Amino acid sequence: MQDTVDIQVTPLSPACGAEISGVDLSKPLNPHEVAAIKDAWGKHLVLVFRGQKLSQDDQLRFASYFGDLGSRKKPPAALRNRTEGSQQDNEKVLLVSNIKVDGKPIGAFGEGDFWFHIDSGYTARPYKYTFLYAIELPSRGGNTMFSNMYKAYESVPPALKEKLKGKKALHIHEYNRAKQANSSGDISGIPHCSHPVFVTHPDTGRKTLFVDRLMTTRIEGVSAEESDVILNELYEIGERREFIFEHVWKLGDFLMWDNRCTIHARTDFPKEERRLLRRCTVEGEPLYE
Ligand code: OGA
Ligand code: MN
Repeated sequence: MQDTVDIQVTPLSPACGAEISGVDLSKPLNPHEVAAIKDAWGKHLVLVFRGQKLSQDDQLRFASYFGDLGSRKKPPAALRNRTEGSQQDNEKVLLVSNIKVDGKPIGAFGEGDFWFHIDSGYTARPYKYTFLYAIELPSRGGNTMFSNMYKAYESVPPALKEKLKGKKALHIHEYNRAKQANSSGDISGIPHCSHPVFVTHPDTGRKTLFVDRLMTTRIEGVSAEESDVILNELYEIGERREFIFEHVWKLGDFLMWDNRCTIHARTDFPKEERRLLRRCTVEGEPLYE
C-alpha cells in the first residue's frame, strides 16, 4: 500500500484529457490516491496513465474503486455472430480487438473506424465509466478521440436548447461501428432505450449533451424530418474539433473516461495489423434532465 499522494496531473488538450503520473496501477491504491484521481477525473473527463503493466485482475481492482463493475452486454441472438469473442473469459471484461484465432474473433469491435458513441447508451443504465488498456497496437492509426459534451451542451444555440427542453431521444444499437441503426421499422429485437437529450450529470450537476451519431436516431415528439435536421446539428456540435482530445496510443497506456459527459470514436488503422485493448466498465444508473 502506498501511503503518500505524489500524483501529477498534466492537461493534454484544451478540450479534455489529462495525463496522470506518479502512480502504479498494478498496486492497491490508498483512499487519498483514489480521491486525487477522482478529483482530476471530474475536471478533465478523460485520464491517461502511461507505461502501466496491468494484469486483468489489476485492472478490475482499480476500476472497482469507482463503483460496481459493469457486465459485458450480450447481443440478441440474431446479431450475436457479429460480436462474440472467443477469448473473453470474464463477464466484466471485453477485449477490443481485430485479432482472429482459427477464423474466430477473440474479442469485439474488429477493425476500421468507429463513429462517435456513448458506451451502452442504448440501455437504461449507460455505463458511468470505461477503462481501456493497450496490449497490442498497430503501427499507425486506431487513435481514440474524445469530445467534451459539457462544452457541446454550452454551445447549443439558446433557441434550440429551449425547443429541446424535456425532450428525449431514442438510442439504438445494431452492433455496427460506422453505420447508424435504422429506427423506422420494428426495433423490438434490437437493443434500444430513450434518454433525455440534455442530461444532468449525476455527480457534478452540470448539464451535458447526451447524443451521438452512431446510436441516437430519433428525437421524440417532433416530426421525423425535423428530428433528422436537429440531430445533424447536434452531432456536428458534439464533434467540433475544438471539443476533441485525440489520444495516440502507446503500449502500456491505460485510459479511463466518464461516459456521461464525453462521446468517443476511433480512427481507422491497417486491418492486417493486430490491435488489442482490454476493456472494463463501471455500471451506470438512469439519467435525468
Ligand atoms: C470502446 C471503444 C474505441 C477504440 O472500447 O468502448 O469505443 O479505440 N473503443 O477501440
Ligand atoms: Mn466505446
